[in-house]
Amino acid sequence: MIASECVPYVKTGGLADVVGALPKALHALGHEVKIIIPKYTKINTERYALQRCHENMGVWMGGNIQEWCSVDQTNLAAGLDVYFIESWKYFGREGLYNDEDNVAFRDNGLRFSFFSRAALQLCIDKDFAPDIIHAHDWQAAPAIAYLKTWHWNTPGLSNTAGVLTIHNIQYQGVFGREDYEYTGLGWEHFTFDKFEYHGNINFLKGGIYFADFVNTVSPTYSYETRVSELGHGLQSSLNHKGNTYLGILNGVDYQEWNPETDQFIPANFSVQDLSGKKVCKTKIQELFHLNVDPDTPIIGVVSRLADQKGLDLLYEAIHLAMHHLQYKMQFVLLGSGDKILEAKYKALPSQYPGQVGTYIGYDNAKAHWIEAGSDFFIMPSNFEPCGLNQMYSLRYGTLPIVRNTGGLADTIEQYSEWSKEKGTGFKYWENNSVAIANTIAWAVSTYHDRPEHIDKMIQRAMSQRFDWENSARTYLEMYRKALH
Ligand code: ADP
Ligand code: GLC
Repeated sequence: MIASECVPYVKTGGLADVVGALPKALHALGHEVKIIIPKYTKINTERYALQRCHENMGVWMGGNIQEWCSVDQTNLAAGLDVYFIESWKYFGREGLYNDEDNVAFRDNGLRFSFFSRAALQLCIDKDFAPDIIHAHDWQAAPAIAYLKTWHWNTPGLSNTAGVLTIHNIQYQGVFGREDYEYTGLGWEHFTFDKFEYHGNINFLKGGIYFADFVNTVSPTYSYETRVSELGHGLQSSLNHKGNTYLGILNGVDYQEWNPETDQFIPANFSVQDLSGKKVCKTKIQELFHLNVDPDTPIIGVVSRLADQKGLDLLYEAIHLAMHHLQYKMQFVLLGSGDKILEAKYKALPSQYPGQVGTYIGYDNAKAHWIEAGSDFFIMPSNFEPCGLNQMYSLRYGTLPIVRNTGGLADTIEQYSEWSKEKGTGFKYWENNSVAIANTIAWAVSTYHDRPEHIDKMIQRAMSQRFDWENSARTYLEMYRKALH
């Protein structure tokens, strides 16, 4: 399993949650898994008991380019090894992909082709002969190409199948062609069906070409990426894969996200006894300087502030809702990323004192608090490959308000006013701020006018499970087909 992030060591988004959880589920089903990620400076060596396991690993990149690195190791669980590729030149810096102004590092193409190559070199040096190399996203996609072009005849790797998971096709790893020589992938593969993309290099595109199987993280997103602009220019590459491109829904790590045992939240609660949820609500009203009132519904957001997430539209919708709705409501937002959005959201609490609270930053404990203490959780995504927060929200009885796209469409069932027996959330289709404000109004009016419907929805939501075991079994089926 080769990836650029993994919980608990380093995380910027849902990719890390998946790379931390899927191997555990596969391992529990009796499979041997090894995870390889970069050793970024922010990974805490002592806390995770990293041990040096390879002092001088030579990584030849082709031609006369020879890199050297070392490798650390620890366990994610007993028998589940994690390896960290350490290169001061490439990973000895604060950010993972971007500098402190949120601008991508200029050498990302070199950093991640090196990382991908190094991951395979580690297999060779350590005599691992994996059945499957499973690469995640553009950062690891070149590993599949190295596997199929360089290592087709290398002992231990010659029978290995290559699988690529796309967590978000907006990020493709596109770099100027001047970086291509360094990768050593060979100009014969710099063609429009493989790595070439409008004159540039496209890591994800090359990975898609060389993989035996490609998947993304929900069935609806796998469809959307084939047939619409949501394929971000790679529609035809995906369609070429035929039935070797599929959607497999992510699961939830319920050890991490469980209101009955959550260590981060002020009070635990369960579907049988929701009293702790009320305590959590009061605590977030205090924490975010909102009016403390149990009868005002809170709408929570935890998100990267990226254009994918539709938070520019939400910003307008909050103004619309605050000005035009007669119902009481409050908003809390935790997020970081885009600097313009950060500034806009930072200024909101002073415009709606006691009604809106925002925290700009990355804070796992606060994310748990918001999941636990809010009444609703909103995800107004322009697109959403899977989305994990809506599934966490269900488990905490925090009803999702979502746009019907990607994994949000697959995991949330629409509420029906005519029947108490249906629905786990509120969905809308049109991608604009009025649709968001109207759906907020729908949810909030249901809260105030039909509380018995809300209670039923909470029961249903909390009883739903998106177990990793199920998803892992589907991954295993894909691995078997890939090997075949
Ligand atoms: P994406 O991977 O596109 O960001 P997901 O919903 O799959 O979206 O996963 C996001 C993950 O990152 C969730 O676990 C969420 O709680 C977490 N997260 C996002 N932003 C923050 C933040 N500012 N502070 C803490 N956790 C965050
Ligand atoms: C990406 C997607 C998100 C998905 C996550 C994990 O970051 O944006 O929708 O849940 O990957 O697969």
